[in-house]
Amino acid sequence: MSSPTFLTLHELVKRARQKLSHDSWDYIVGGAETETTVRRNRLALDSIAFRPRVLRDVSQVDASAKLLGRTLRLPLLLAPIGGLELFAPEAGAAAAMAARQFGIAHMLSSVCEPGLEAVARAAPDALRMFQLYVRGDAAWTDALAERAVAAGCSAFCLTVDTAYYSRRERDIAKRHSRSGPMPEREFQARVTWDDVARIKANCALPLVLKGIATAEDAILALEQGVDIIYVSNHGGRQLDHGRGAMEMLPEIVAAVGGRAPLIVDGGFCRGTDIVKALAAGADLVGLGRMQCIGLAAGGTAGLVRLLEILEQEIHICLGLLGVAAWNALDPSYLHPAAPLGAGDTLGAFPLLALEPNSFY
Ligand code: FNR
Repeated sequence: MSSPTFLTLHELVKRARQKLSHDSWDYIVGGAETETTVRRNRLALDSIAFRPRVLRDVSQVDASAKLLGRTLRLPLLLAPIGGLELFAPEAGAAAAMAARQFGIAHMLSSVCEPGLEAVARAAPDALRMFQLYVRGDAAWTDALAERAVAAGCSAFCLTVDTAYYSRRERDIAKRHSRSGPMPEREFQARVTWDDVARIKANCALPLVLKGIATAEDAILALEQGVDIIYVSNHGGRQLDHGRGAMEMLPEIVAAVGGRAPLIVDGGFCRGTDIVKALAAGADLVGLGRMQCIGLAAGGTAGLVRLLEILEQEIHICLGLLGVAAWNALDPSYLHPAAPLGAGDTLGAFPLLALEPNSFY
C-alpha cells in the first residue's frame, strides 16, 4: 500500500480530518459532557516546561524501553479503541500490524473488529494485550481471559473507569449515541475488587487495570496482585471534571514506588508529551486519538509514519535535554509553567486550519 509522505503530525491530522465524516471525527475528538476532562489532559501537559541540561554527549540517544520482558522501540502502547473499523477497514488488525511493524505494544479493545483471534493472526509476534469491558457474569469474563491466553496475548486488561457509560453530547446530538439502554452494560457497574482478585487468581496472564486515577486505588490494585497499573481518565470520555492525566500521575508514581510498571494515557500527542510522562515516572504512554488519526490518514502505513515522526520528536527532545537514555531522566527536568491555549483536544497542532467546531 502506498502512503503519501507525511512530513509532520499536522499533515496527518489534516489528512485524517479530510477523510473522515463529521460524525466519525466527533467520535474521535469528543468527550463527556462539558469536555473539561479532555481539556485538562492537554492543559496538564501544557503546564509543564522543560529544564534542559547542556554539554553532555548525546550523539547516541536510545529511546527504547522494556515491558513484559520485551524490548520496544519506543515506550509506547496503542491504547484500546472501540470501533476502529470507523477509521480503517482492518480496524484492530491494522493497528496491531503497525505496532508489530514499528515495534511498540498493542492493546486490543473487546469492542473492536475483527476480534481477538483475527488480530492475533494478523500480528502474531507483536506484544499484544487484550482489554475487556465486563459485559457478562464471572464465567463469561473468565472465558474471555482464557481466549486471550489462547490467542497468545501478553497481558489481560480490565477497564475500570466505565461503571456507567458517559453522556457524550456530540454523539447524542446526532441521535446515534452509544449511550442508549444496553442490558449487558449493567455488569460493568457491579464489578468490584473481588472480581479483580478472582480474575487475578484464575488468569494465567499478567493483569492490567486501566482507569486508575488515584494513589489509593493504585495501592489497592497492588494489594490484589495487579501486575501493571494503567493511569487514565479514558481520554476525558468518561467522568467529566476529572484531573488531567499528568496531574494524577505524580501521586500514583509515589504510591507505587516502582513495584509495578505504570502506563499513562490522556492527551499525549507529541514527542515532548511522551518525554514529560517518562520524566514524571511513567514507564509507557498510551496513544488513543493519535492512533485513530494515523489509521484514518493512511491505515497501517499512516500509523507507522505517525510513530516515525513521534520517534524523531522524542530523539530531538531527549538530545536537547542532554539525556541519552530514559534512565537518565527524572522530575528535575520538569518545571511548572503557565499553559498557552485553552487545552483543546488538538491544541498540540496550532498550525491547523480545520473548520471551527460549529456543531451546535
Ligand atoms: C477510547 N478509549 C477506550 N478505552 C478502553 O479501555 N476501551 C475502549 O474500547 C476504548 N474506546 C475508545 C474509543 C475512542 C474513539 C477513543 C478516542 C478512546 C480510551 C483510550 O483507550 C484511551 O484511554 C484514551 O483515548 C487516551 O486519551 P487520548 O490519547 O485519546 O487523548
